[in-house]
Amino acid sequence: MHARPLRDGPPYLLVGNSARALARSAARGGYDVHVLDGFADADTALWARSVTRLPWGHGQEIDRVPPEVVEIARSLGPFQGLVYAAGFESAPYLLNSLSQIWPLSGNSASLVARVKDPEGLSALLQALHIPHPESRRTRPADARHWLCKRIGGAGGGHVRAAEAVGTLGDDEYFQRHVDGRSISALFLANGRRAAVVGFHEQWVNGDADNGFYAYGGACSAHGLSPAMRAAMRAAIERLVAAVGLRGLNGVDFVVEQGAFTLIEINPRPCITLDLYDPDWDEGLFHWHLQACAGRLPGRLPVPGRVRAHRVLYAAHKAVIPAGAIWPDWVTDRPAGPQEVPRGMPVCTIHAEAARTGEARPLLDHRTAWLKRCLEVSGTSPYIHVEHEVV
Ligand SMILES: Nc1ncnc2c1ncn2[C@@H]1O[C@H](COP(=O)(O)OP(=O)(O)O)[C@@H](O)[C@H]1O
Ligand SMILES: [Mg+2]
Repeated sequence: MHARPLRDGPPYLLVGNSARALARSAARGGYDVHVLDGFADADTALWARSVTRLPWGHGQEIDRVPPEVVEIARSLGPFQGLVYAAGFESAPYLLNSLSQIWPLSGNSASLVARVKDPEGLSALLQALHIPHPESRRTRPADARHWLCKRIGGAGGGHVRAAEAVGTLGDDEYFQRHVDGRSISALFLANGRRAAVVGFHEQWVNGDADNGFYAYGGACSAHGLSPAMRAAMRAAIERLVAAVGLRGLNGVDFVVEQGAFTLIEINPRPCITLDLYDPDWDEGLFHWHLQACAGRLPGRLPVPGRVRAHRVLYAAHKAVIPAGAIWPDWVTDRPAGPQEVPRGMPVCTIHAEAARTGEARPLLDHRTAWLKRCLEVSGTSPYIHVEHEVV
C-alpha cells in the first residue's frame, strides 16, 4: 500500500485520538509506521504495519489520551521516533513520559503546555499584537456571548455555551464568543519561520442536542482576500518566532469584516492535512519530519483541487457489520462488527472538485446519502454503498 519503496531505518510510532490521516500521508512518503490510536479504523490498518486501539477511560472523552499510552508505546518499539496527533493537549505530562522512551518529532511537552494555558496564551498574543478573545476563570456577569472550554480540549466536544454551565471545573475556563466565520490555517514551522500549507473554512457539527461545537469539517475554499491572508500569515510568523513551534501545526481564527481573531493554537499535525496532502509529492508527514529537523520546503506546491471533508457523528447508535463495504470517499472506517454510540464519530466523508463552490455541495450530497445508508443498514450484513453513483 506504500506509494514509494519503504525508507530504511526503524519505523515511526504514530499516536493520538486518530492517526489515520498521518498514517496515510506517511505511507505516501514511504515511511514504515505503527499506529496507536483511539479508533484503530479498518483503513488505518492499510497504511500501517500494526494498529493498536487505545483503551478509553471515559467512553465519550475522545480528546483525552489515556495514561496507558506510555506503557503500550514502550511495548511496541523500538521506534526511530514518535509523531503525535490531537489528544495530548490536556496531558502534556504524557508527552513528557513518551519523550523519555522514543524521540518526539514534534513540539515538546512544555511548549504544548505553554500554548494551551489560557492565561499564558492571552499574555503571549497581547505581546505579539495578535487579536484574541478575552478568557477568564470567573463567571462573567452576563454569560450570554461567552463559551466554556476545557484547557487542552480538542475536537470541539468540550466547548459549550457559558449559560449552560453550573460550576466551572478545575480545568475549564470562560472565553468570549466572537462572531464570524471560522477559518483555520495549517502550517509547517522550523522553530523560527513558518510556511503556510493552506487556509480553510471550518465548521462545527451544529447538532444542538449533541456536541454543537464538535469538529464538523473543513473546506480548502476560504474566500479570503490576499491582504487578509498576508495579515494572518504575518501573525503566524510572529507566533512561530516567539514560541519556536516545529513541524505541522494549526491555528484557528474567526474572521469578520476584514479583521481576524485568533481562537487557539493546535501545536501538532491537524486532521486538515487531508485537504492538502495529495498536493505534496512526498506527503505532509515527510515535511512534518523535515520541519522538525529545521528544514522548510523551498517552494510550496501549487494548490491542486478544492477539497472538503466532514466527520459524520452517530445520530443514533450505529451498527457497523463485519465486512461493511464503504465508498472510496469515506475514511476512518470502523472495523466491523462494532457499535458506534450516539454522538461518537462514525467516519469521515470526503469530496474534491476542480472549482471553488463545487466541493461542498458534493460533500453535502454524499453526507445525506451515507446517513440514509446507515439508517437502513440495520441488521443487514453490508452497508450497501457500492450501488449508487455519487
Ligand atoms: N471564542 C470563540 N468564539 C467563537 N467561536 C468559537 C470560540 N471558541 C471556539 N469557537 C468555536 O468552537 C470550535 C472549537 O473550539 P476550539 O477552541 O477550536 O476547540 P478545539 O481545540 O476543541 O478545536 C471552533 O472551531 C469555533 O468554531
Ligand atoms: Mg479548534
